[in-house]
Amino acid sequence: MIDQAGVLGSVRRGMIPAHIYNDEHVFALEKERVFGRAWTFVAHESEIPSAGDYVVRRVLDDSFIVVRDEKGEIHAHFNMCLHRGMQVCRAEMGNASHFRCPYHGWSYRNDGRIVGLPFHQDAYGGEAGFKRKSQRLLRAPNIGSHNGMIFISLADDAPPLRDYLGDFAFYLDYYTKQSPSGIEMRGPQRWRVKANWKIGAENFAGDMYHTPQTHTSVVEIGLFREPKAEKRRDGATYWAGNGGGTTYKLPPGDLDERLRYVGYPDEMITRMKREWSREQCDVIGRDGFMISAATVFPNLSFVHNWPRVEDSEDVVPFISVRQWQPISHDETEILSWFAVDAEAPEEFKRLSYKAYLMCFGSTGMFEQDDVENWVSLTNTAAGSMARRLMLNSRMGLLEDGTEVSPSLPPERFSGPGIARTGYSEHNQRELLLRWADHMERPMPKAAGVEVGVNGQRAEAGK
Ligand code: FES
Ligand SMILES: [Fe+2]
Repeated sequence: MIDQAGVLGSVRRGMIPAHIYNDEHVFALEKERVFGRAWTFVAHESEIPSAGDYVVRRVLDDSFIVVRDEKGEIHAHFNMCLHRGMQVCRAEMGNASHFRCPYHGWSYRNDGRIVGLPFHQDAYGGEAGFKRKSQRLLRAPNIGSHNGMIFISLADDAPPLRDYLGDFAFYLDYYTKQSPSGIEMRGPQRWRVKANWKIGAENFAGDMYHTPQTHTSVVEIGLFREPKAEKRRDGATYWAGNGGGTTYKLPPGDLDERLRYVGYPDEMITRMKREWSREQCDVIGRDGFMISAATVFPNLSFVHNWPRVEDSEDVVPFISVRQWQPISHDETEILSWFAVDAEAPEEFKRLSYKAYLMCFGSTGMFEQDDVENWVSLTNTAAGSMARRLMLNSRMGLLEDGTEVSPSLPPERFSGPGIARTGYSEHNQRELLLRWADHMERPMPKAAGVEVGVNGQRAEAGK
């Protein structure tokens, strides 16, 4: 067992018991209280554009069929047959009007309703034995979508998705709403790393401090226009609602010039200016900050960067969406999507995809640098010595709690939430604060669902 009060108390002070990065008891609690409650990303609407399109995605051990039905409505069905519990859909993605269970052949419409039950009359005596009518695959308790990003929550009492995202929605638009058509996503590439899921989530939320060290070589080979990795210090980190991220400080210029500087063609800039609010434009145009990596609690991250892709001085921006899907306390499956504005010119999409593949994705240069650290950290966190070590995650705070650099006033940062320049671990702490809040609250027992009887809902345990 873990000393829960001790662990959570330390985390709240910014001291991290090192073993939380490799501890099966901690993971068991995360499974129940973090992933059993938080809104987690499962798919983007552009992955299932037509009726019958589906993808199968997991929230840890729970598999869901995320599908668009014949009327265009999106569902997340728990991927378990109502008969004896076989996985109904075994493909990763596809198009289907029905799903037929491979075991005994029960079949379900893509809206989840049961349609075929072989030998219903002979086996059950028809409706008198098994009520087929109105039976359906279990639904994810909550489903919501924002800018086409589909999330589910397994908690019956989840707040609305929009409330959960809070002011992070402001920043989400930079990645997912550069035109009225939103983004299209390619992927995901999937691979596993022997690292704890929290490390990547924290890194993307705010670790500007690792760039000069971990990614020196990427800068040295001239992949970026910015000459020095230390430049990251001039960027701002921000935290808003349930997410936060990092930015780069751009050279002087107005909004158009700055978007051009990171490689956006004029026609895309025109659409962004129409799509974004005054404040969203001002973060870039007036304040000079360009959005980079970010994380929404618990395990969804974004990255926006602009490397050189051809043998020229020109840079091309790319956006990647990624999920840190925990497999166990010491293993994570990474799902990595390429995202691009659906209205972007084809040539831009091609080059942007190339930029993404060069930097992130299973063979990306940044990826390789980062993962080496995370695997090693996870390994070292397994032993008994790690149980004595309280890592100091208080960068940006003096011992008495005073902030090393004050937050930026509205005249210097137009976005919502709290933003700061300079190296700090404010965002990592924000992320772990939410983790602590989730870990602390026991989950209410969910009501059970009985199959094939009158009234689907029954009291848990009866
Ligand atoms: S388990 Fe699905 S039909 Fe029997
Ligand atoms: Fe990195």
